[in-house]
Formats: sequence, C-alpha cells, structure tokens
Amino acid sequence: MTDFFISRRHFLAGSGAMVMMPGTTFAAPPEVLVAKIAQAQIAPDSYPPTSIYSYNGQFPGPMIRAKQGERITRELVNDLPVPTSIHWHGIRIDNTMDGVAGLTQEAVPPGERFSYDFVVPDAGTYWYHAHTNSMEQVARGLYGPLIVEETEAPDVDRDEVLMLGDWRLDPETAQIDPNFDHPMDRSHAGRYGNLIGTNGRYGYRLVARQGERLRLRLINAANARIFRLRLKGLIGWTVALDGMPLETPVPVEGEIVLLPAQRADLIVDVTADDGGETMILRFDDDGQWREQVGFDLSGSIALRSTPPAPLSPNPGMSPIDLERATRLEMRMEGGAMGNMPMGRMNGQMMTFREMVASGMYWTLAGVAGMADNPFARLARREHVRLKLINDTAFPHAMHLHGHHFREITEGQQGPMRDTILSLPGDTIEIAFVADNPGKWLFHCHMLGHAASGMTTWIEVL
Ligand code: C2O
Ligand code: CU
Repeated sequence: MTDFFISRRHFLAGSGAMVMMPGTTFAAPPEVLVAKIAQAQIAPDSYPPTSIYSYNGQFPGPMIRAKQGERITRELVNDLPVPTSIHWHGIRIDNTMDGVAGLTQEAVPPGERFSYDFVVPDAGTYWYHAHTNSMEQVARGLYGPLIVEETEAPDVDRDEVLMLGDWRLDPETAQIDPNFDHPMDRSHAGRYGNLIGTNGRYGYRLVARQGERLRLRLINAANARIFRLRLKGLIGWTVALDGMPLETPVPVEGEIVLLPAQRADLIVDVTADDGGETMILRFDDDGQWREQVGFDLSGSIALRSTPPAPLSPNPGMSPIDLERATRLEMRMEGGAMGNMPMGRMNGQMMTFREMVASGMYWTLAGVAGMADNPFARLARREHVRLKLINDTAFPHAMHLHGHHFREITEGQQGPMRDTILSLPGDTIEIAFVADNPGKWLFHCHMLGHAASGMTTWIEVL
C-alpha cells in the first residue's frame, strides 16, 4: 500500500498549530440526527476540506450524553443519497432499536425518517455508527460518541472523548477514496487509512494543567486499524473496557491495544514528567512511535496522591456459570494466505473461487455472510461458552450485539467486553448470558471483513 499521506514528514512537524480548547469539541446534543453530506477539515489546514457523510454536519457526530438508566430518543433524518440506519454500539438495547439494516429494521431510504427510542442500562463509553453498508458509511464519517454517565461520578477534573480514526484520502485533494470494493482490503487486513487522527482531524491537541486528573474515553472508530498506544508525561489506569468497569483500576504499563470498535476508559494524571512532553503515542507499521494526541500544558495544580477508585459496577455484569453453559464452536476461515474453504452462501455450497467471484472472502462456521438461520438459537438466560477458532492469517475483532461477554482463559473469567481480539492461528473462548431477546449480529468489526463474509447472527428466544 502506498501510504503517501503517512509518509509525508511535514504532517508530523506541523502538528503544533491546532489547539482545541477543552469542551469545544462537540456541540450540545440535538434531538434529531440528520445524516447528510458535509465538509470537514480532516487533513491539515493547508489541504482542502473533505466531503464526508455526517450527522448534523458535524464530524464526529454530536456527542450524545445520558445518565445511566435514562431514555435516549433520536430521530434519524436521512438526507443522504443512500439508505442508512444507526447502531448504538455496546448498548444492551431493545432489539428493535439495534439499527441493523435487514435484520432488526429496514434501512431508512433517502428522504425518510426513523425514531430511535431506548434505555441505557449500563454506564460507560459507547458509540453510534451507521449499520447499513457500514464499511463505506463509517469510512465516510457516520459515527459519533455515546456517553452514559455513572450515577456517582468518579473524582476527575475533566472528561475527554477521544475518537481515534483513520481515513483513506487522496493525497492531493484530501477526498475520501471511493473504492470500497478493493479485493486487497477485503481479503487482507481491511481498509486502512493513510491519514490518522482523533475526533475527526489530524494533529488533535488538548489543553491541560499539570497535575490534573483526566478521564480519557478512547474509542477506536477506524474501519480496520488496530491502535497500539502509549502514554508519555501521563500516568494512567484503565478503569473500564468497552464501557464496562474493571473491578480494580489497572495501571497502564506499556501498551494499550484498541481494536476497531473497542473502547478503553483511562484515568490519567498529567505529570509532565518527561521534560514537559505530554502526549498519547501511537505505534505505526513502520516501527515508529508517533504523536496521536498532544497536550498543551497551561498552569498547574497539585497531583492527587492516591490512585483512582474503581467505577461502580454495571447491572449487566452478572457472572457466567461455566459448568452449565452450552458449548459452541465457530471456525473462522478464508482470506488471503489462508486455506481456501468451501462456504455456504445464500443457502448454497460454493467453492472458494465461486465465493470470491461474488465478493466473499471469509466464512464463519462454514457460512459466508448472513443466512436465513442463525448460527445459534438460545433460550432466554441460557449461559453460553463459544470457542472461536481463527484459521485465517489475519487478526479479527469479533463483536456481539446486545450483550457483553467475558473471555475465558484457563477457567478464569476476564473483564466484560463487546469486541475481542482473535489472533491468527489462535483459539479463544468467550462466555455470556443470553439475557437479551432478539436477533443479534456477531461479526468482525474490521468492516471490510464483515462485508465479505464475517457476519453471522444469533437468536435469543
Ligand atoms: Cu459497531 Cu455491528 O457494530
Ligand atoms: Cu476480521
């Protein structure tokens, strides 16, 4: 891949120019989300604005904030030339509000509307994004943050949402590469952007006082990129993953890995102990650590002397009964450099070549793409252990709708997540309680993979 943008040195040098004052990033939440074409200054100011798909003309979309247990209502107005729908990622939502075109609702045609109305049972960091042709629509900008506040707020000076993303732009015109059918993207690691940024722009910066304690809500909104991050001039603790609080805050030592769609809530103290340099660094494919988010220091207060307390647990965190759980298994196959599996597609067995001819590169449990029958039908409150066997040459970011699950390693239950890393050649096991009735997608959140076979569903009766 020729990452022209990424290889341009002046992008790295020029990042000091844009200073965002805290609190100016997102406007107050409107009651309507109008999906429409807009212009956004994603690339540095020396480039023209990029034509994107937006909610309300903003990028990222307006921040939606609610208190735990509250009801959120938003009317989607589709002013785009294509049908669309909104998914509320990570929310244990009423199935009819899940936003999956073709499964939980019809896509909303251009010119029409759809009212979303749901309760948010769990506090934490979530996001919303298009779930109609999401590979293209998310890459074009249809996403925004959804924050559910704890009833008891943690002791921090401020809360910042950092939506990490990358965009594949033409390096001259800064317009989005409109080729979404590239076989290379779909059969390899997915659509990687050539310009990486935060909150919809390159070179994002925050202003902070030395000594401040901040809550950073990291959200990976990229199509396929796995972010590997490090802190500099900050000491931090991970307090929640995918919205769900950890029992005890875990000190950040080394890297934070964030898959597409994953979130990590960090509480950080601004120590500026590295010669004043304060930033979040990102590891790039060329082996370099580069600035992802820069901090401009202004003023100082006394550092807190104690580590942060854990966030209060969410109601969705019930333990799983591993003994009586139903055991299921799913093999992932296909893609470049893998074996070439036969796959069932639209009810018919096909050779790998036939699949590829119709744009399918991957299978989940032998099936490429959505089928009439779910991968599993589960009884309400059934406890489930699902083994995921990655028989491909690529990592995947497996996401279950409407539920959180725990990874099981040697009989131990890990933290609750809604999206998990599956490494090539590895087998992992996840477990969950099927307590939310309805039809729920299970798919890779590398959206090119999802569009090329790695999407299935379960039904909870
Ligand atoms: Cu972010 Cu199908 O999900
Ligand atoms: Cu994948």
